[in-house]
Amino acid sequence: MATAVATRSFSRAFQRSTASAATSSTRFTVRPSRANAAKQFFQQSSRRQYSSGPAPARSKNTLVLVGAAAAAGFVVGGLYGYSTQENQAQGPIPEVHLKQGSGGQSVGVFKPTVEDYQKVYDAVAKLLWEHDEYEDGSYGPVVLRLAWHSSGTYDKVSGTGGSNGATMRFKPEGGHGANAGLNVAREFLQPIKEQFPWISYGDLWTLAGVVAIQEMQGPTVPWRPGRQDQDESMCTPDGRLPDAAQGQDHIRNIFGRMGFDDQEMVALSGAHALGRCHSTRSGFEGPWTFSPTVMTNDYYRLLLEEKWGWKSWNGPKQYEDASTKSLMMLPTDVALIKDPIFLTHVERYAKDNDLFFKDFSDVMVKLFELGVPFKSQPEDRYVFKAQVDSA
Ligand code: HEM
Repeated sequence: MATAVATRSFSRAFQRSTASAATSSTRFTVRPSRANAAKQFFQQSSRRQYSSGPAPARSKNTLVLVGAAAAAGFVVGGLYGYSTQENQAQGPIPEVHLKQGSGGQSVGVFKPTVEDYQKVYDAVAKLLWEHDEYEDGSYGPVVLRLAWHSSGTYDKVSGTGGSNGATMRFKPEGGHGANAGLNVAREFLQPIKEQFPWISYGDLWTLAGVVAIQEMQGPTVPWRPGRQDQDESMCTPDGRLPDAAQGQDHIRNIFGRMGFDDQEMVALSGAHALGRCHSTRSGFEGPWTFSPTVMTNDYYRLLLEEKWGWKSWNGPKQYEDASTKSLMMLPTDVALIKDPIFLTHVERYAKDNDLFFKDFSDVMVKLFELGVPFKSQPEDRYVFKAQVDSA
């Protein structure tokens, strides 16, 4: 087992300069040839304009697989039972009891380790790199959106919602207007669930969100397991996710309900550097940046540097850039430069990609953990090694 190294936060992990945990089994050395082609595609097409220079290289040394013992258990479908076992040195270790059919008798105990989660990471990353036929060349954005929408239903007052439960699998929540199109991401990840049946959907979706960010050259995002799948009765009510047609008050209401402050709301919104809107899903259309599969701070730069006017079309009100008329902003995006407090953070992130990456990592850790009943500690988080760095 890899030596356990505690990391309290991305920032601390980032400062780490010496490898401390990687074993040969956690290093990914061979990347599929299509992945190389995909990577080249990303790099060539990534910064046609508004380039902020190469994405800050994450030091290879900081990308070691870091992890202390996981904590929290799993309730996974009908085939798996649940238990945790206290271990003085490492804290509670998750165990999955493999059961036989309806008899339910245990035929063994499986305790996923940090290496097992890295294998899940690698399998998702491989799938992302192999399926470069999708849209702009990657399922990464829609996978990240799945992770965010499964987490962003959290309500800090009632403690309901969040990525624990993965209730978007069920019709009531999967059918919410805001989740239109996310079946694409759920179906994309299903083969991974079949390959690693011990992982809960909630853990899989959020871990896949981490993979998407890291493989699209974003910052490392520490992550820990502990989400337990729940049944349909735990579906959240409609209306918890943001409505893109609204303004700053709505943003503060929705993200305030999750427990985020103004700076965090602006950092979260930087995810719109990635992906695009689809008229068949949300009604809106087009990408925010010229590099929708590479994580950069271009979203903020474009917000400030471009002139944004209403798009004239037969669809919902959205903005388009005056220069090329090929990019878009939602009313909620433009609200970030209309509101003076939000604007100060947009300016900070537009100027400093490293600052954006650090804050984005921190806020994604927080988002993915909302409402999860962890038995582990924040310092038990894992930092996964990215395949994009192993070319
Ligand atoms: C005010 C807050 C937000 C609003 C109103 C909003 C709204 C939207 C809308 C309307 C789309 C287009 C969906 C489609 O047509 O396929 C979208 C896409 C996306 N959103 Fe957001 N979003 C918000 C915040 C976030 C946050 C916090 C994240 C992640 C941290 C995020 C990540 C994404 C990604 C990656 C896509 C692209 C999906 C794809 O390419 O299929 N968004 N968002």
